[in-house]
Formats: sequence, C-alpha cells, structure tokens
Amino acid sequence: MATAMVLPKLYSNSNNLTVLTTSVILKKSQHLIEWKDKPSILEFGFADGTNSQKSLHPLLPADYNEFIGVDISKPMVEYAKKHVVMSRSEFVQLDIATKNLPKQFQNRFDHVFSFYTLKMNVARQAFKNVYTMLKPQGETFQVFFKVLPVEDAFDALAKHPKWGKYGHEMMVTTVPNSNPSEVFEDAVKEAGFKNISFKEEDITYKFANEQAWKDLYYSVNPVVANIPPNEIEEYKVDYFSQIRKHTLKQTEDCKDQEAKVEFTLCVVSAKKHS
Ligand SMILES: C[S@@+](CC[C@H](N)C(=O)[O-])C[C@H]1O[C@@H](n2cnc3c(N)ncnc32)[C@H](O)[C@@H]1O
Repeated sequence: MATAMVLPKLYSNSNNLTVLTTSVILKKSQHLIEWKDKPSILEFGFADGTNSQKSLHPLLPADYNEFIGVDISKPMVEYAKKHVVMSRSEFVQLDIATKNLPKQFQNRFDHVFSFYTLKMNVARQAFKNVYTMLKPQGETFQVFFKVLPVEDAFDALAKHPKWGKYGHEMMVTTVPNSNPSEVFEDAVKEAGFKNISFKEEDITYKFANEQAWKDLYYSVNPVVANIPPNEIEEYKVDYFSQIRKHTLKQTEDCKDQEAKVEFTLCVVSAKKHS
C-alpha cells in the first residue's frame, strides 16, 4: 500500500536524521558509485528535497544531463517544484512500485538514487522498475530501513479501538518469519542486477529535544491525512505515546525528555547488464 507523506514543510524543518546519516553513508560509499559522462539521474522518494540537496547534490558531476526527482506524494512534489532550485531538473509524481511504468521513464537513466524510501512490501516491483528505468550499465544506489522503526507503533495503532480504522497497517510491512535483508537482496537479484553490494549499517540517532522527535515523527506519518481535523489533537497524544513506547529509547544520561532511536539501514548498490 502507498505511503505518501503529506507534510512537506514540517518534514523539511525536522529531517536532520536523514540528512546527517545519508551524508556519512554517501561519503563512505563513494567508491561504489561510478559516475557516467553527462549522466541522467533520477531520485525516487525525493520528498521536499532537503536531504538530496545537502547529501547527494554536492557529489553530482557538474556536467549532469538531467536530474529528475520523483515522489508518490503530490504535496511533496508541489513543494519541491516551489522550493528546489537546481538546473536541468524536474519534479514529477510517480509511484516507484507502479505496475505500469510510464514509457518516458524507461531506459533513460544512468543513475537511480533513493534514501529512506524503499519498503519491503514493494521492494520486488520497485527494483524491477528501477532496472527498467536504467540504461544498460546504469547503476542504482539506495539506502533504506531494514525494518521501519515506527512499525510496532503503527501496528499498535492499527489495533486501537478508535484509530484502527484509519489505515495504520500501511506502515506495517514485515513479512512474518523472514529475514528482511534476504527479502531485499532477493528482490535486487530477481530484477536482474549484477555487481550487487549489500551492506547493513547500525545507526543511533539522538534527538536534541522532545519537540525535535515529535516534529519528525509527525511529519512522516501518512495516516494524519485520514484523521478528521477535529480529532487530530487527541490523535497526536496517542500517536506520540506509541512512538515513545515502541520506537524511542532514553539516552544514557536519562535527561528529561531526551530520546534516541536505534535502527539498521540497508545500503545497496547494483548495476544493470550491458
Ligand atoms: C521518509 S521520506 C524520505 C525523503 C528523503 N528521501 C529523505 O531522505 O529525507 C520518504 C518519501 O518517499 C515517498 N514515497 C513513499 N512511497 C513511495 C513510492 N512507492 N514511490 C515514490 N515515493 C514514495 C514519501 O511520500 C516520502 O516523501
């Protein structure tokens, strides 16, 4: 099921977590990216563009041919169109896991990037589409959660007597009795990729204060679009309480309201055949 995020401004102001971790991973992984001449580049899950601009854009070859940022969410694409200033760029609404990939995206790109977007339940179709989007010898580099850190919180809300009907199960993606990394790796192989590098990175991220984690977790919640406006304040109380219970840990010094989150990222690079 699609998980379009709907709060671009709040996400833009609160997503230090993705910016800091992606920058570090990209620096460490530069040797895995073989830039083509005058490359055509696509990034899916582009969102508001903040992470892309701060982490990926400093590494782009100056002579790139085009940069296309796509996202499933209309509000995100509209926000990017208004706020991202970048030459030879375009921002387009697209579900990376669509079963009908438009012709204009096929066999067009030298590089496909993505950060914090891919989910297990769409991995097969998404890698298949990325393969189709790439030219021969084209490459993909992606970073995504092994397991969504919010999964247990959304699972609890999916079973909640009041909030259960609003679609929280869209964020519960774990396939029972399986190793998530195997599911992702199989999807890359099944799509036809070669030269596959698949690594895991354990991350601990400490939030500066209570408002910082509340803003981030609220901005990434796709279900808020379904909650009636007159119930949103009551919903926030229950949502934050589930996030605190299932997703966050107290920091070692246990200062009031401080919190950290621990998770594992999958870092994947792979090439299309010649
Ligand atoms: C957690 S945000 C990450 C945004 C940005 N890449 C970053 O690292 O900060 C995930 C983004 O992917 C988008 N998204 C989710 N499912 C998608 C899909 N199937 N196709 C394209 N975009 C998708 C969401 O709307 C959201 O903007």
